[in-house]
Amino acid sequence: MMLNDGFDVQEMTRLIRHRRSVKPVDMDPGRVVEPGLLMELLENANHAPTHGLTEPWRFTIFQGDARAELAGVMQRIYRETTPVNEFREDKMLKMGQNPLLAGAVISIGMARQAGGKIPEIEEIEAVACAVQNMHLTASAAGLGAYWSSPPLVETREFVEWLGLRTGDRCLGLFYVGWPKPGFVWPKGLRKPVEEKLIWRGELRSS
Ligand SMILES: Cc1cc2nc3c(=O)[nH]c(=O)nc-3n(C[C@H](O)[C@H](O)[C@H](O)COP(=O)(O)O)c2cc1C
Repeated sequence: MMLNDGFDVQEMTRLIRHRRSVKPVDMDPGRVVEPGLLMELLENANHAPTHGLTEPWRFTIFQGDARAELAGVMQRIYRETTPVNEFREDKMLKMGQNPLLAGAVISIGMARQAGGKIPEIEEIEAVACAVQNMHLTASAAGLGAYWSSPPLVETREFVEWLGLRTGDRCLGLFYVGWPKPGFVWPKGLRKPVEEKLIWRGELRSS
C-alpha cells in the first residue's frame, strides 16, 4: 500500500516488528561497522522529535581501541561503586568483553538545558525516540543492536568521563555490530495490544 510521499506503511510495519535486541555475544567481533553506516544511524537519531527543539541527545562513539578503554572504565567503576554483597564477578567479566565483541558502542547521553524549561522526563523521552530511530535503522541495515543500561552508567564518574556536564545523564550504551555468521534473527514476543488499550467514542460516518 503506497501512501503520501510514496512511503510504504506495510514495509515500515515489517521493519518495526523485525527490530530486535541483538546482544554483543551474538555479534561478529571481526567485522568492522563502517563509519558511514554509523553516521546514518546517528543522522536518523538526530531527527527524533524534541520538545522545544532542545535536541538533548549526546553520543560518543567507541570504535577500535576506544572500546577496550570503555570496557576498562566500566569495570573500574563497577568495582568501585558496587556494594560487596551485590558484586558479581561474571557481570564484571562481561563488562570487559562486551565492548570488544561489538563493532561500535555508542553512549547515550542526555544534555539538560540551563534553566530546565523542558521537564527532564521529556528530554529523556526525546533521547529514547532518538535511540529507537538508530535501532530501526540498524535493523534495516541488518546490523545487530542492543540498548544496555547497567546502573554504573548513571554514576557521576562515568557521566563526567564521557564529558557530559553536571545535570546531564547517561541513559545507557548502544551496542552495534554485524551478527555472527549463522546467527538466527530472533522473533519478537509481545502480548496482544488489546490488553493495553481502551477504545472510547463512537464513529459516525459523515
Ligand atoms: C531503556 C532500555 C534499557 C534497556 N536495558 C537493558 C539492559 O540493561 N539489559 C538487557 O538485557 N536489555 C536491556 N534492554 C533491552 C530489552 O531487554 C529488550 O528491548 C527486550 O527484551 C525486548 O526485546 P526486543 O528489543 O528484541 O524487542 C533495554 C531496553 C530499553 C528500551
